[in-house]
Amino acid sequence: MTEHSADLITADAIAEYYDGSVEAFGILLGEGGSIHSGYWPDGERDVSFTRARLNLTELVGDRCRLAPGQRLLDVGSGLGGPAIHLAGACEVRVTGITLSGKQVETSRAKAAAVGCDLVDFHCADALALPFEDGSFDAVMFVETMMHIEDRATAFAEARRVLRPGGRVVVADFVEDTPLSTVESGMLKSVVRSPFMPTREHYRKLAEGNGFSVEEMLDITKQVRPTAEHYNRAVVAARRKLSEAYGVSGAGAIAAMINAFGRVAVRAHGYLLLVAAKP
Ligand SMILES: C[S@@+](CC[C@H](N)C(=O)[O-])C[C@H]1O[C@@H](n2cnc3c(N)ncnc32)[C@H](O)[C@@H]1O
Repeated sequence: MTEHSADLITADAIAEYYDGSVEAFGILLGEGGSIHSGYWPDGERDVSFTRARLNLTELVGDRCRLAPGQRLLDVGSGLGGPAIHLAGACEVRVTGITLSGKQVETSRAKAAAVGCDLVDFHCADALALPFEDGSFDAVMFVETMMHIEDRATAFAEARRVLRPGGRVVVADFVEDTPLSTVESGMLKSVVRSPFMPTREHYRKLAEGNGFSVEEMLDITKQVRPTAEHYNRAVVAARRKLSEAYGVSGAGAIAAMINAFGRVAVRAHGYLLLVAAKP
């Protein structure tokens, strides 16, 4: 890792990156407020990107196995869409945390706009969760782990704040074939991810931090159309992005999305890990 790319993956740098991209992701992804991959069920390729992203949110929510009235922690809650959706759909209280203060503001405004009072959003770090031991029934990480270098501490913190029997659900990219040097560099500098672990690495991280792994679902095929849909979204939003960021800013966003698709989505695998705290 070069000094330059290492600097891009500190907590402050991640916060700055997401603070600065609230508007861009809003323009690109529109309603829904999620910044994650889509899930296209087998044989349903004509599902929209918005619906496919909702499918992934719902798949994760399903694996959290929550009963009405329970508490879910969304670590890396982005623009708040997944937390707000699952709060309503599962009738649970959802707390979202993110490093980005702008994302917190946007999420709170979105919850107020739709009249959802089952959610709360805070600026906090996955590596030092500001919550009591045993205070949640489930913890989810949707494309958050990829930004974290010390994933063992992230699992340990999730375990600490879960009640016995509670579940952690992780949805993220995994390395199925070794990355090339160019891809590794792009992963750090563009995706702001220090490394891409294998499926087994995630299993060991979960088990090594006291979880019992219940499911390791390979959803690579169902997630793969995401890259193409991101690229289409960039083309469709080019004028609005240019108005907001100037022509060169819009070009940089397009290059970032293209690189993201190439490194994270097209070339590699996707894992849904479900593990329980005994
Ligand atoms: C790709 S976005 C995913 C957002 C959201 N989970 C979703 O699916 O829409 C990554 C999120 O992870 C958050 N994040 C990254 N590292 C974090 C950390 N150490 N602690 C808390 N949040 C973190 C970012 O602030 C951002 O909100």
